[in-house]
Amino acid sequence: MQFTRKDFPEDFLFGVATSSYQIEGHAFGGAGRTHWDDYAATPGNVVRAEHGGRACDHYHRYEQDLDLVQAAGLDAYRFSTSWARVLPEGRGTPNPEGLDFYDRLTDAMLERGIKPCATLYHWELPSPLADLGGWRNRDIAGWFGDFTEVLMKRIGDRMYSVAPINEPWCVAWLSHFMGLHAPGLRDIRATARAMHHVLLAHGRAIEVMRGLGMSNLGGVFNMEWSTAADDTDDARHAAALYDGIYNRWFVGGVFKGAYPEIVLDGLEPHLPHNWQDDFPTITQPLDWCGLNYYTRKVIAPAPGPWPSLTEVEGPLPKTFMDWEIYPQGLSQHLIRLAQEYTGDLPLYVTENGMAAPDPLVDGGVDDQDRIAYIDDHLAEVRRAIDAGAPVKGHFVWSLLDNYEWSLGYEKRFGLVHVDFETLERTPKASYHALARALTTA
Ligand code: FCB
Repeated sequence: MQFTRKDFPEDFLFGVATSSYQIEGHAFGGAGRTHWDDYAATPGNVVRAEHGGRACDHYHRYEQDLDLVQAAGLDAYRFSTSWARVLPEGRGTPNPEGLDFYDRLTDAMLERGIKPCATLYHWELPSPLADLGGWRNRDIAGWFGDFTEVLMKRIGDRMYSVAPINEPWCVAWLSHFMGLHAPGLRDIRATARAMHHVLLAHGRAIEVMRGLGMSNLGGVFNMEWSTAADDTDDARHAAALYDGIYNRWFVGGVFKGAYPEIVLDGLEPHLPHNWQDDFPTITQPLDWCGLNYYTRKVIAPAPGPWPSLTEVEGPLPKTFMDWEIYPQGLSQHLIRLAQEYTGDLPLYVTENGMAAPDPLVDGGVDDQDRIAYIDDHLAEVRRAIDAGAPVKGHFVWSLLDNYEWSLGYEKRFGLVHVDFETLERTPKASYHALARALTTA
């Protein structure tokens, strides 16, 4: 790495992020069925129909995994908690093994001097709630609030920070409009409802945690930098609409109590009645804002119904996800967030990283491309700080190679290689480089 800790403010946190379904092994410990299990079991949705039944077996190996976090000199670990592990039916009787697991995991972080940064929901909706309409059903805000209360009564006293929901765009648009994540719908009315209810549930969870006396609560939003494919008005409009749907809808709702007009043009007819009345809940004050950043998209107009746009291939080098590497978008987003939405609120890059094939060669993985990716993005974080954005931390996605949703186990994002046959962990060159950057005096 080209940086060390000294290049960042003293209170800047370095962390890694993971999520429950992607690493734990959902078949273990009495967890309930989730809509991801159903989605993955349906032919054509997921590469080789792979699922998170065993994943990295982090459920049994979490101590070894947290040793790796500690040994790298990382300050914080962003993990998520599975709703279906805690409440197998989504509501009702908790699973004691699930609560015990998150309790042990929390203590194991604290014993190692690692700050626990929880995300309550990273996409594993309990199937019985999906049966009731899932994110389309307004009642999800109450169900999610109840889950929040059950879990945070147990571990909330020891959290460094908590965010309710990972990446509302993925929960709503990717899953209900594009059909590429569970529940795999392609339906504009379902989308509009999910786009709204996901924020209502976020706000309800914040209210619940404030009621429990908790602090350092935030939100985690994914953003892509939207670039017009050419200089025409139509292309600029398409790019602005993509930006509205992907980025501005969610932070607009949470920080301004308003949705962008350009998106309402298409979604308003499909929103639930009296949606405006929910903004007092949606805009519950937050203590920080998290940004997950990976790439940009080049957007062009397209025939067909609203939103009448399409992604076109850009010219930049790409990762194994086929995502263009565009580090500048990170500083652009951080600066815009601070200037237009969050002001002085601390900002965190809560996910950032890249996938590569990463074969083991001679017992190691020489992932120089990932080292460069992290370096280039951390340089943009510093640029944003210099421009006045109050960025307080950066989390690499991810600690371990893991279950990359519809793309199965092939897309490796880890600083640590996982052999999915033997489950052996092997730190990659990027892990060692990051550890040197963080521990060099
Ligand atoms: C983010 C998700 C995370 C992982 C990375 C690559 O959108 O939060 O679970 O899939 O992308």
